Amino acid sequence: QQQEKSALLKAHEFAAKLYNYILGNTDQGKVALEYLRSRGVSDKLIETFQIGYAPAMWDTLVKQLEKRGFDLALMEKGGLISARSEGDGYLDKFRERIIFPICDASGKVIGFGGRAMGDAQPKYLNSPETVLFNKSRTLYNMHLAKPNVRKLQKTVIFEGYMDVIKAWEAGVLNGVATMGTALTKEHAGLLNRNSEQIVLCYDGDSAGQSAAFKSIPLLEEAGCRVNVAMLPDGRDPDDYVSNFGFERFVREIVEPAVPSMKYKLLYIRKNFKMHEDGDRVRYLQTAIKSIAGLASPIEREHYLKQLSSEFPESSFEALKQDLSEHLLQS
Ligand code: UTP
Ligand code: MN
Ligand code: MN
Ligand code: MN
Ligand code: MN
Repeated sequence: QQQEKSALLKAHEFAAKLYNYILGNTDQGKVALEYLRSRGVSDKLIETFQIGYAPAMWDTLVKQLEKRGFDLALMEKGGLISARSEGDGYLDKFRERIIFPICDASGKVIGFGGRAMGDAQPKYLNSPETVLFNKSRTLYNMHLAKPNVRKLQKTVIFEGYMDVIKAWEAGVLNGVATMGTALTKEHAGLLNRNSEQIVLCYDGDSAGQSAAFKSIPLLEEAGCRVNVAMLPDGRDPDDYVSNFGFERFVREIVEPAVPSMKYKLLYIRKNFKMHEDGDRVRYLQTAIKSIAGLASPIEREHYLKQLSSEFPESSFEALKQDLSEHLLQS
């Protein structure tokens, strides 16, 4: 097992270098380079994130691995190549895709995310779980973010590769990504070891917003304090940067991230019609239930006061009484 791991680590490192070389130095890489430039990815970012390109041919990587004496059956098990469906032999797993190497916390390459440049499906093809790559423990860019996270005592969590990369260019050097999968309890534990303060910066679509909402309790149970950055509907961090620039991204999105409680209230609110009495009352009840989950009496009072000023038809006393009933129940 240990031998297999070390062979696979070598192969991943080699593949990352090969793909990065192809992107920067070959004719085949030119379209990919164009694609990256059109998305605002500079040469410096390509270097920092070791971005690469897997060409369209069937066996670029297979041939190179074979030449270097790697055990191809093991390489298949490690998710780098695929067995041919007919006959013997192997095919490259990643073809005609931009390659984002995924590293463990110490910076060793353990997998890849490959983005199609056109409409090929899936949009991103990722390495499978292997002896090296455990998805529920891995966060994209943790190895580069870690020293900055420690220094700033804060981690910013994004959904995807491009978000981390564009945010990096904007000066957000403490960003990691869940790579589109749900944040796990394990992720939360690892994050809490590096910094207590978390900023969730997920896409501004309903999938992203619901992922943020669901991540809050996981992170808080692990001991983190959570703020949530809010993107306009339909925007993600990467295209916010492309449209409005680095400076506005930081000033308008990352810095004003709101405390999790405020975010939860805004999120819950979307399910109610605020001009209808019944919904207003039910929203108040739901909101108070959520506020009752706060550990600090000062915080509870803070949000309760906000609610009461927003709902002049309900007295602060009534809200407080409702709150205390929830506190008694728990
Ligand atoms: P998104 O759909 O938000 O993609 O998925 P994106 O990051 O904005 O990608 P671009 O900007 O169009 O290139 C967020 C993340 O979910 C994972 C990837 O890690 C992606 O960055 N994902 C998404 C997949 O693994 N497979 C997919 O097909 C799509
Ligand atoms: Mn998304
Ligand atoms: Mn996105
Ligand atoms: Mn995007
Ligand atoms: Mn109630």
